[in-house]
Amino acid sequence: MDLGVSGLKAIILGGSRGIGWYTAELLRREGASVAICARGAEGVASGVENLKSLGEGAVFGAAVDLENGEATRTFCRDAIEALGGCDLLIHNASGFGQPEGEGGWMRSFQIDMMAGVRAAEECEAALEASDAASITFVGSMASKYYFGRSSSYGPAKGAMRVYANELAQRLGPKRVRANVVSPGAVWFPGGSWDQRKSESPKFYAAVEKAIPLGRLGTGEELARVIAFVASPAGVWINAAHIVADGGQVASVD
Ligand SMILES: NC(=O)c1ccc[n+]([C@@H]2O[C@H](COP(=O)([O-])OP(=O)(O)OC[C@H]3O[C@@H](n4cnc5c(N)ncnc54)[C@H](OP(=O)(O)O)[C@@H]3O)[C@@H](O)[C@H]2O)c1
Repeated sequence: MDLGVSGLKAIILGGSRGIGWYTAELLRREGASVAICARGAEGVASGVENLKSLGEGAVFGAAVDLENGEATRTFCRDAIEALGGCDLLIHNASGFGQPEGEGGWMRSFQIDMMAGVRAAEECEAALEASDAASITFVGSMASKYYFGRSSSYGPAKGAMRVYANELAQRLGPKRVRANVVSPGAVWFPGGSWDQRKSESPKFYAAVEKAIPLGRLGTGEELARVIAFVASPAGVWINAAHIVADGGQVASVD
C-alpha cells in the first residue's frame, strides 16, 4: 500500500531518536520532506544528515526545548519556511512525568500538552492550505492504565486525547484531521526499555510475559502505525485514539 506521503512535508516534535526518529526515517524513505527537533544539538545534527541521505526534498532540524513556548513556536515557523509548508504535524516528545512532584506536573503540561497546542496553532494556516493535512499526537497506554503510583504522565497524555478530539472537530471542516496513537511498552536500542532490560531483566521479562503477543513493540512498528494514521492512506481516521500496545492494556478503550 502506498501511504501517499511522497512530496508531503512532515514536522516532528522530538525526532532525533526513539519512536520519533523511526517515524522521521520512515516518512523520509517514503518521499516526505521532514523537519525534526530535539534538545540535543548533536542528535539533531546527525539525524538531519541521516535523513538527507535517505531521499530527495528538504530536511530541517533545530535544537529546541519544547518546554520553552517561544522556542517551540519559532521552530514550527522555521520548519514551515524551510519545508515550504506543513502537511503532517506529529507531536512525539514527552516529559515522561519527570521529575516527580510539582515540577513534573508543570513539565508534563508544558511538553506533552502545551507544545502540542503551540505547534498546532503555529501550523494551523499551513495545514489548512494542505490537501493532506493531519495532526498526530503520540500518547501512551498511561492515558488509560494506572501504573500503581501517582504520576503526571498519564493525566497529561489523557488531556492530549481531549485536545486532539477538539482539534479534529474544529478543524475537520477545513480538512485537517487530528488523532492520538498510544503505544504500550516499546523497545528499541538505547531506549528506556532497553535500559530496563539490562538493569532489571526479571522485571523486563515479566512485562514481556504480560503482553499477549509475548514481547514489547519496536520503534519501527510504532512508526508504521503513526505514519499510517498521519498519512493520506489513513484519511478516514479522525478524532480517534488508536492503541498500539500488542494488547498490553487488557481493556476495551
Ligand atoms: N518508549 C515507550 O515504551 C513508550 C511507551 C508509551 C508511550 N511512549 C511515548 O512515545 C513518545 C516517544 O517515546 P520514546 O521512548 O521514543 O522517547 P525517547 O527515546 O526519550 O525520545 C524522545 C525524543 O524527543 C526528544 N525530546 C525529549 N524531550 C524533549 C524536549 N523537552 N524538547 C525537545 N525534544 C525533546 C528527544 O531528544 P532530546 O532528549 O535530545 O531532547 C528524542 O528525540 C513519547 O511521547 C512517549 O510518551 C513511549
